[in-house]
Amino acid sequence: MTPTKDDVTIIGRVNYPKRRPLANVIVIGSQWGDEGKGKITDLLSKSADVVVRYQGGVNAGHTVVVNDQTFKLHLIPSGILYPDTECIIGSGTVIDPKVLIEELDLVEALGISTANLMISQAAHVTMPYHQLIDRASEERRGSQKIGTTGRGIGPTYADKSERTGIRIVDLMSRDRLKEQVHWTVNYKNLILEKLYHLSPLDPDEVEKEYIEYADRLKPYVIDASLKIYNAIEGRRNILFEGAQGTLLDLDHGTYPYVTSSNPVAGGACVGAGVGPTMIDRVIGVAKAYTTRVGEGPFPTEINDEIGRLLRDRGAEFGTTTGRERRCGWFDAVIGRYAVRINGMDCMAITKLDVLDELPEIKVCVAYQIDGQRCEDFPSSPLELAKCQPIYETKPGWQQSTVHCQTLEDLPQQALDYLRFLAELMKVSIAIVSLGASRDQTIVVEDPIHGPKRDLFYPSDTAGEN
Ligand code: GDP
Ligand code: IMO
Ligand code: MG
Repeated sequence: MTPTKDDVTIIGRVNYPKRRPLANVIVIGSQWGDEGKGKITDLLSKSADVVVRYQGGVNAGHTVVVNDQTFKLHLIPSGILYPDTECIIGSGTVIDPKVLIEELDLVEALGISTANLMISQAAHVTMPYHQLIDRASEERRGSQKIGTTGRGIGPTYADKSERTGIRIVDLMSRDRLKEQVHWTVNYKNLILEKLYHLSPLDPDEVEKEYIEYADRLKPYVIDASLKIYNAIEGRRNILFEGAQGTLLDLDHGTYPYVTSSNPVAGGACVGAGVGPTMIDRVIGVAKAYTTRVGEGPFPTEINDEIGRLLRDRGAEFGTTTGRERRCGWFDAVIGRYAVRINGMDCMAITKLDVLDELPEIKVCVAYQIDGQRCEDFPSSPLELAKCQPIYETKPGWQQSTVHCQTLEDLPQQALDYLRFLAELMKVSIAIVSLGASRDQTIVVEDPIHGPKRDLFYPSDTAGEN
C-alpha cells in the first residue's frame, strides 16, 4: 500500500521539544557534595514553578540562609521558602519518614507552609534496619570503611536493587504495609542477628511506628512523574535539585567511596521520571576550593594550617553529621570531569569569600601520574591513588569580597582567579557566591531566564540559540 502524505507526517514525524518560555534547569554538585547547592537552588527557586529532589536521602544537608534564619534541609527541596513554588520529593529519592516528619515540623514551626510539598509514591523508604546495617557494616569494614553518614542510605538503595525495598506506596495501604514490614523485618533480623550479632527488631513495633508515619505523610503522596510532566506541558518551569556531588556518584564517582545513588545530571531524568528532552540546562555548583567528608581519595587535600584556615573560615563541618570536612585547593581536573559527565552549561562558584585572606592561592591544573602529565580525571582508582597534583599559584586579593554585588566590585585578582577557573574548565561562570545569604551573590546571568549562551567564559562551542 502506498503511504499517503498524512501517513508520512503523522507516522514519520519527529516530535521536537517545544520551546519553553523559561528553562528547566538541573542544579548539581560538581565536587564531593556541600558545594552550596541549597543556597543556589533557593536563589533560583524565585523563578521556578516546581523544585524537585531526584535522588539521595537524609544524607544530604542543604543550607539556606534567609535574613537571620538558617534552614538545614535534608529531604525537603530548597524551594520550600517560596510560598508559590511547588516542591516534590521525587521517585529516585529514599525517604526516612521519621527524619522527614521532624523536618516538616521544624519548617512549619518557623512559619513556612508545607502545603505545596509533594512526595512520590515510588520513592523507597528507609527502615530502622537500614540504619543498623549501615552502621554495623561500616564497623565491620574497619580500615576499609567508607565514612558514610550512617543514615541507612546504602542499605535502602541496596534493597531497592535487590527488590526487597518498601516504597511510599506500600505505606499507603494498611494490609500491604503489614505484610511487607513483617516479611522484611523477619528477613533482616537474620542479618542483624547472625551477621552482626545485634538484637532483632520487633515487626509489630516497626509496623505500629510506620503506620503513624504513613498517616502523617498520606496527604503529600502523589504520582510525581505525572505531576512533573503535566507541569512541563503547562509550560511551567522545573528546577531539579541534585544532592551530593559528581564524585560521590555511584557510577562516575570515586567508587567505592561514593554514595549509593546518581547525583549527576543524568540521574535527574531517572529520579524525577522525565525524559532527557525536557531538560534545557545544567548548572554545576562548585566551591572556590574543595572539600570532602568521609573516606576516599582527595588529590588536592591540604593537611597544614591553610587547610585549617579554609575549614574555619568556611565553617567546614558537615550539615548532617557535624563531622569536620577535609579541605583542599580547587581541582580543575575534577572541574573538567564534572563539566563533561554532567553536560554542564554553566557553573556557580561559591565561597569565594573564604579565600579573601590568602596571599596566594593554588589551583590544580593537571595531575602527574608515573611521570606523565594527565589532564583527565582517571577512571581507575589505582591511577587516582598515584596522582600528584600539578599546581599553578595565583596571587590572592587579601581584602573582603562579602559585600561585592557585581563583577566590577570584585578585586582584580579575584576576577582573574574566576576567569582562570572558567578557562581551565571550559565552562561559563553564571553565578558567584560570596557569603551564605541570598544577597551575597553576583548573578552574572540568571540561567533560568537567560538565553543559552556564554556567560563568563568566551568559548567558541556555546552558540546562541
Ligand atoms: P549543599 O549540601 O551543597 O547544599 O551545601 P551545605 O549547605 O552542606 O554547605 C555549604 C555551606 O556553605 C552552608 O553552611 C552554606 O550556608 C555556606 N555557604 C554557601 N555559599 C556560601 C558562600 O558563598 N560563602 C560562605 N562563606 N558560605 C557559603
Ligand atoms: P549534600 O547533598 C557531602 C558522603 C558521606 C560518605 C559518602 C557515602 O549535602 O552535598 P552515604 O551516607 O551517602 O552512604 O555516605 O558520601 N556524603 C556526602 N558528603 N555532602 C553530602 O550531601 C553527602 N551525602 C553523602 O560523607 O563519604
Ligand atoms: Mg550539604
